[in-house]
Amino acid sequence: MEPVAVIEIRQVDTGLQELFCDYVPQVFRRADFRRWRAWGEWTDAYRAFSVVESGRVVANASVTRMRLVLEGREVTGYQLGAVGCLPSHRGRGLARKAMDVALDACGDAPVLLFANPTVRQFYPRFGFQPWKQTLFAATYEAVPEGPPAPPLDLDDAKVRAGLDSLSSVGLPSSERFGARGYGKVASWPVANGFARPLRQLGSEVWVFAGVEGNTLYLDDVFAREPFDLRAWIPRLIDRPIEAVRFGFTPERYWPGAVEAGEDAEAHLFVRNLRLSQEAHRFPIMAHT
Ligand SMILES: CC(C)(COP(=O)(O)OP(=O)(O)OC[C@H]1O[C@@H](n2cnc3c(N)ncnc32)[C@H](O)[C@@H]1OP(=O)(O)O)[C@@H](O)C(=O)NCCC(=O)NCCS
Repeated sequence: MEPVAVIEIRQVDTGLQELFCDYVPQVFRRADFRRWRAWGEWTDAYRAFSVVESGRVVANASVTRMRLVLEGREVTGYQLGAVGCLPSHRGRGLARKAMDVALDACGDAPVLLFANPTVRQFYPRFGFQPWKQTLFAATYEAVPEGPPAPPLDLDDAKVRAGLDSLSSVGLPSSERFGARGYGKVASWPVANGFARPLRQLGSEVWVFAGVEGNTLYLDDVFAREPFDLRAWIPRLIDRPIEAVRFGFTPERYWPGAVEAGEDAEAHLFVRNLRLSQEAHRFPIMAHT
């Protein structure tokens, strides 16, 4: 059998990116990179390590360079994503080949990934260990008041640039286990239609948030300076609420929030990464 080669697909490799975009929905039914790519979000921070056979990407492991924030300290790390193999090509060691090359590219730096229940036994083979993620919630009654916070549309290049900039120079939503500079990660679920709306509270405060039932889900907060999040809640809701849930560790924005169980859907795996023993939730908008 021919030796299997893994090729690196970078920002400049637009032809190979097409092959990658063809591969993704064949493995992950709800995922697509085309709109995100058309938005110009594939930068040098995103590299796909792909096995190409007969002009098709058949297996892959992608690496996103991240500015992680660990207990207040910024550290360069990597997040794996789009790890998979076409159903027709499984069981031949192809995902392993892609994983080995992707992990070589990460060196000794911290690596994390969010898996799914079918691959919990896969990542430990590559030196990863599972790590608990915690849900955070607060009981809080509020009613709508004042002008609603305007929505922001990431289809607009200026809005994408604004999110990049706030995320790069602003405060991380959590210092315990968070990140900076992930505007181009947060835009991915938006491009796929999975994200809650992005809303503007003041010129330098943007949040991903939405109401379901009587709960406000605050998925992430991008702010240049500290601000009083509670004061803005009435402008983020279109009906009375009784609770808030957070997509990140809210030690900064809602110190009284309580732990609301384990995030059983996160399936976080880490490698060369020592995380806080205190309960935490890596911001969901920073997941790849
Ligand atoms: C999981 C997946 C990537 C494996 O691809 P593959 O090419 O068949 O994997 P390989 O043949 O390279 O297997 C590598 C090793 O992992 C093992 N393995 C494969 N699939 C596994 C699974 N689902 N769980 C546990 N171990 C698994 C193999 O036995 C092999 O072990 P070994 O090298 O120690 O002998 C593939 O099944 C897939 O694409 N699944 C759907 C997409 C998905 O869920 N991806 C993960 C996103 S987080």
